[in-house]
This record gives sequence, C-alpha cells and structure tokens, in this order.
Amino acid sequence: TTTQVGIVGGGPAGLMLSHLLARRGIDSVVVDHRSRLEIERTVRAGILEADSVRLLADTGVSDRVLREGHQHHGTYFAFGGEVHHIDFEELARASVWLYPQTEVFIDLADARAAAGADVRFGVSGTTVHDITGDRPSIRFTDSEGTAQEVRCRYLVGADGSHSMCRHEIPASDLRQYRKEYPFGWFGILCEAPRSAPELIYNHSERGFALISQRTETMQRMYFQCDPDEDVDAWSDDRIWAELQARVGANGCDLNEGPIVDKTVLRFRSNVVEPMRYGSMLLAGDAAHTVPPTGAKGLNLALADVRVLAEVLDRALTKSDDDLLEEYSERALDRVWRSQHFSYWMTSMLHRPPQADEFDLRRQVAELSAVVRSTAGSTYLAESYTGWPSSDCL
Ligand code: DHB
Repeated sequence: TTTQVGIVGGGPAGLMLSHLLARRGIDSVVVDHRSRLEIERTVRAGILEADSVRLLADTGVSDRVLREGHQHHGTYFAFGGEVHHIDFEELARASVWLYPQTEVFIDLADARAAAGADVRFGVSGTTVHDITGDRPSIRFTDSEGTAQEVRCRYLVGADGSHSMCRHEIPASDLRQYRKEYPFGWFGILCEAPRSAPELIYNHSERGFALISQRTETMQRMYFQCDPDEDVDAWSDDRIWAELQARVGANGCDLNEGPIVDKTVLRFRSNVVEPMRYGSMLLAGDAAHTVPPTGAKGLNLALADVRVLAEVLDRALTKSDDDLLEEYSERALDRVWRSQHFSYWMTSMLHRPPQADEFDLRRQVAELSAVVRSTAGSTYLAESYTGWPSSDCL
C-alpha cells in the first residue's frame, strides 16, 4: 500500500489526525496493534476543553458530545474544611465538557469507518523503516496473518506513552525531560447517582481525592495512593471509608454504590524534544505524558494533531521538509504550558509522602490564595478550560 501519511496508533490522536488530513484531501493509513474493542474498554479521563469539543463538532466527527456530554461551567475545590466554587464562565468565558475519552474514540472510529478510511486494528509486529529518508514505511502483520507494508511520504508516531516510534530515534538526537511523582491514583467506577453537580478536587490531610462523573448512574472517583498500591488490598468498604474520610474533612458526603472497576494509575511527566526526526513526527502521549490532575492528556493530543495536520498539509503541498520544523516549536509551547499546569495542580493538591503540618498548611494557604484572588482563580480557569489556539504559537 502507498499513502501520503502513515500513522502508527489508532487512539484519539492517530484517528483525529487521519480525519483532519482527509478534510484537507490528504490520504493516510492508520495501524494499531490493539483491537477496536480493547481500546473502547480502556477507562481513561473524562474532561474535554472547549477547543477539543469544537474540534469534534465543527470538523464533522460527531456532535454527540454536545447532545450526550455534560457542559460544566465550573468546578469545586474542597480544602481547609470548606468547599469553594470556581466559575469558569465568569472568569474565563469558557466551559469544559464531561465526555469520556472512550466516547471520543468511538466517535472518531465510527467517523473514519463511515468515510471508508484505511484503519487497521489488531495488527502485530509493527516496525518502521527508513525514517530519515523520503520514503519511510510501516511493516506489520495484519489481523488475517498476512505481512503488509505501507509506504508513505511522512510517518507519524501516535502510539502512546510506550511508543515504539519514539524508541527508533537515536538517543543522541533526542532530549528527554522526565519527572516521577511519589504517588499514584486509585481509580474506581461505581454505580451511584452523582454526589455534586460538578467535579470536586479535594485536598485533605489523608491525601487528594477527585470526585468525577460518567453518567446519571455511573460515577468516576480517584484517591491518591502509593504508586505500588495493591488493588486487591482494597475492599469496597475500605475504599468508601477512605473516600468519605477525605471529602468529609471538607463537609462533603458521597453517594455510594457497587464498585465495578478498580485500577491504580501511575504518575509521570515526560517530554521529548524535538517532536520530529527526519520524516517521522510524534504526537500525543508518544511525545509527552502529563500527570492526570487537570485532565490535560487527551486535550493535548488533540491540540498536537490540529497543528500537525496544518503543517503536514503545507509540507506536502510545497514539497518542503523544512516546513516540518514549525510543528515541534508550536506544539511544545502548549506541551510545556500543560506540563506546568498539571504539575502545579498535582503539587498543590496532593499530600507529599513526608509532609508535615507546615507543608499541609502551606498548601491550604496556596489553595485559599488562588480561590480568593480573581487573578489566581482566572489563571486556573483559563488553564483548565484550555488556552484557545489563537493564544498559542
Ligand atoms: C477525570 C480525570 C482527571 O484527571 C481529571 O482531572 C478530571 C476528571 C475523569 O476521569 O473524569
């Protein structure tokens, strides 16, 4: 097979790129080692920035997010024994939407299928070749067991945080910036009604808790835990006692119900620079990961491919590789802003392992300064709802 852009990774980044390229008349082939069902069953984050919603609705992927998603005009910060509301509409004239990443993936996969796009799930043994030349290729075995080769002009690695594509770049041609955090999140899905109209970011002496949502009857919650925490050590009763103790410290009370999913998420910040090597470009988690606090991961991946589609279009039209330089520069501006925001939210809300009374009181003072200052809460609202592309490089 020959195509203009070969894309490794059929998650939201890869599929959105394929969609945006098609709108510009550029054809692509997407391959992913996972089956469609496997991707659909992975529980991921649930908050979309205003621009991510617009990208889905205005470019014709689907308007389901507007019909079935929930617009949130603000969020709650609970700390120091009280609950405070941050009004995104009032402060930043923007909202976010509660719409799970899984649904974003389904909308994109359906839209690509309806357009007759070449998307191959369930392939194995994927390798990339000649990435520094002008005819790179992807080799793999398709789901029927047949060896395949996709030759393309440009290759995109949108293959997630364990990216095979990124590992093809020689270490000497890559700068890598990392940060490890001494905690993780214990995430649950439970069958219960909502506990609050919007999300609650909860600071407490026992550690952070996040009360999120999925539907009228299904809720998503997380609590800070040890990164090596054993899921099996936590019965439903123990989980509810811990969550209630953390939010109860600030006067909240949760609606409980059967827990249907339990997972521990690890925290990490990672950035590679540049996001290009020869004819290969990296997008989404393949190039950067953020800790989950603030839900920037998916939004950042979508922002990457919006810029990438534009840059690839120009490079293909003008047959000029040098135009690719712009991608890394523009994408990294938002990547580092998001890294800072996710790091800031994380450090402000989580209890460090050796925290003493001073550390906890300092955190409460910081949270209090943010919510009491119009400048502070506006900064938070602007960052949380996402910087509009007009305000980016
Ligand atoms: C969710 C996850 C996040 O990391 C966050 O900041 C908000 C919501 C979620 O899964 O719903």
